[in-house]
Amino acid sequence: MVTAYDCLWAQIMDEAGVDAILVGDTLGMVVQGHATTLPVTVDDMVYHGSMVVRAVERALVIVDMPFMSYHESVEQAVRNAGRLIKETGADAVKLEGGRIQSETIRAISRADIPVMAHVGMRPQAVRQLGGMGKIQRDEELLLADAQAAQDAGAFAIVLELITRDIAERITDTLAIPTIGIGSGGGCSGQVLVGPDMLGLTPGFSPKFLKKFADLRSEAISAVQAYVREVQDGTFPGEKHSHA
Ligand code: KIV
Repeated sequence: MVTAYDCLWAQIMDEAGVDAILVGDTLGMVVQGHATTLPVTVDDMVYHGSMVVRAVERALVIVDMPFMSYHESVEQAVRNAGRLIKETGADAVKLEGGRIQSETIRAISRADIPVMAHVGMRPQAVRQLGGMGKIQRDEELLLADAQAAQDAGAFAIVLELITRDIAERITDTLAIPTIGIGSGGGCSGQVLVGPDMLGLTPGFSPKFLKKFADLRSEAISAVQAYVREVQDGTFPGEKHSHA
């Protein structure tokens, strides 16, 4: 699984053969330039989610439920999950939480909307956690969270920043697939933020991130070459002009 937020990149990810595309609320940071995911709204998710769905022919598309779109009540959660599915055409929604959101996961599943859960480091809890990026090590609590999400009806679960051994134990214990980010190779699958793994996001190099390309440098070099060629008159030459 990778994240994508628009038609252009979703098409590339889909063509490259990923099983699932997450329209993550990381779009708040990657696309909108915020410091956290907290400002993202349901309207933002509808806007980006529908672009991704229009582009994808093959992969499963999951849309994140943003901060405060499911925290007030179960009714609010079902209403917003329904809106995300109806207005984007996505296959499933994702929300952060295990035990604390089990009632909500159950209610959304009962509305026949597939729900992916997300436990471990929860970026929407950044204020309570006192920052992002802290590795989660409380084995029994993490297992209880994952188990509660599965029991409530989640079809899969993201494990974020959990030690390798704990993530492996959760994966072995659960019947549903675990999708890890910063949680080692023992998960059923992996997720990375698309622009991070392509080397497009500057200044973000946590231990878990492998950059599979350096597209930012390539893009900068390409734009610099264009500027140079326009300035020195090389572009457009005959080949790119109409007679
Ligand atoms: O919002 C997001 O992109 C995510 C992934 C990091 C799993 O939740």
